[in-house]
Amino acid sequence: MNIYFNKILFLLTILFSFIVNAEQLSYVVKDGKVDAITEKGFKTWRSAACERCHGNKQQGLVGPSLITSLKALTYDEFINVLLVGRVEKGMPGHPHLEKVDKATGKRKVDLLYAYLKGRSDGKVPAGRVRSFEKK
Ligand code: HEC
Repeated sequence: MNIYFNKILFLLTILFSFIVNAEQLSYVVKDGKVDAITEKGFKTWRSAACERCHGNKQQGLVGPSLITSLKALTYDEFINVLLVGRVEKGMPGHPHLEKVDKATGKRKVDLLYAYLKGRSDGKVPAGRVRSFEKK
């Protein structure tokens, strides 16, 4: 009896930490500059080299246009395709993006979501972006 209780508690803890970590972030744009989260999303995009398959303006190359994709993809689908990938279709998994970025305290995959959502909405400019927030 006690053993089952411990197992259930353990599973609940994992579930809870998943819910706490999952956070749908949004972007802010002011006078052509972005908030710190969106800027970090752009830096994550560059360091993960997504552009070699999705294009430097997210327009699509061997991978689909993410400008188009993010209009239809849900947040949960996005997180899943990033962390797990669709390996058989050429999209590698990026499990390291689950890591929390120290400066913002957010998961890298969530920073990417905010940035790419802003690109897809046509609000965040293409290429390098700068933050209006002080570090
Ligand atoms: C080696 C090439 C490659 C790299 C690197 C890559 N992708 Fe992909 N990506 C693909 C391909 C190919 C698909 C299409 C998979 C399919 O047909 O379902 C895809 C699919 C996706 C999708 C789902 C699109 C949809 O409409 O369902 C997202 C979102 C995505 N990639 C984002 C990223 C991000 C962000 C990065 C960087 C962290 C990245 N990809 C890196 C090749 C790549």
